[in-house]
Amino acid sequence: MAGCGDRLGNEALLRDHLTAVANGELVLRPLGPADGPGYRELRLRALAEFPDAFTSSAAEAAATADDWSVRRMLPRDGHVLIGALIGERLAGTAGLDRQPREKERHKALLYGMFVAPEHAGRRIGRKLVDAVVGQARQWPGLEQIDLTVTRSNERARRLYLDAGFVTFGVEHRAIKVAGVYYDKEHMVLFLDHHGH
Ligand SMILES: CC(C)(COP(=O)(O)OP(=O)(O)OC[C@H]1O[C@@H](n2cnc3c(N)ncnc32)[C@H](O)[C@@H]1OP(=O)(O)O)[C@@H](O)C(=O)NCCC(=O)NCCS
Repeated sequence: MAGCGDRLGNEALLRDHLTAVANGELVLRPLGPADGPGYRELRLRALAEFPDAFTSSAAEAAATADDWSVRRMLPRDGHVLIGALIGERLAGTAGLDRQPREKERHKALLYGMFVAPEHAGRRIGRKLVDAVVGQARQWPGLEQIDLTVTRSNERARRLYLDAGFVTFGVEHRAIKVAGVYYDKEHMVLFLDHHGH
């Protein structure tokens, strides 16, 4: 019986997952409302420590209601925020948000890519990108993932290029942080590998 097999498979997955958490190993999983406070803390840190890497500012994010992140992670179609956890602690995130309008439903945005500096350089960023791409491939009708990256952010640029994204445009002076302008590259990954 397929249903029974699925259940046993799920139980085995859950057991492996709990063992990994208990051992303090890296676990990637979609975040839910219960992860809201941890996500809020990590996001505020990312925006404060890397102001030129993100379009939201730390002050704007700090001004949102405490339950903003909990509400944001209520399950909804076309959205997933994947967390990289070490033990119970959130070490990184990457989100995928599908465009809601009919003519743009073939596209989703990769956003919120962050790995805490104490965990950087261990390929967690790459695993998060791969998880997001894997998730995108499960969504019927989704054909491409778009993202923007600050042009001077060599580390993030390299990560996306290595994962197969290509640059299709540059927005000059896209953001202005403490009086300094930064350009943003627009990148895309076509999931069908055929380009456009
Ligand atoms: C960018 C970021 C997500 C990378 O995460 P990470 O877990 O450290 O990245 P990884 O260890 O998976 O490295 C991925 C790739 O990045 C590149 N990279 C890593 N360190 C680098 C460095 N010092 N300089 C240039 N490229 C580097 C490499 O191509 C690496 O691939 P490799 O392991 O095959 O060499 C992380 O540094 C971060 O959160 N930075 C601050 C916030 C940010 O910039 N977010 C992106 C917004 S678009």
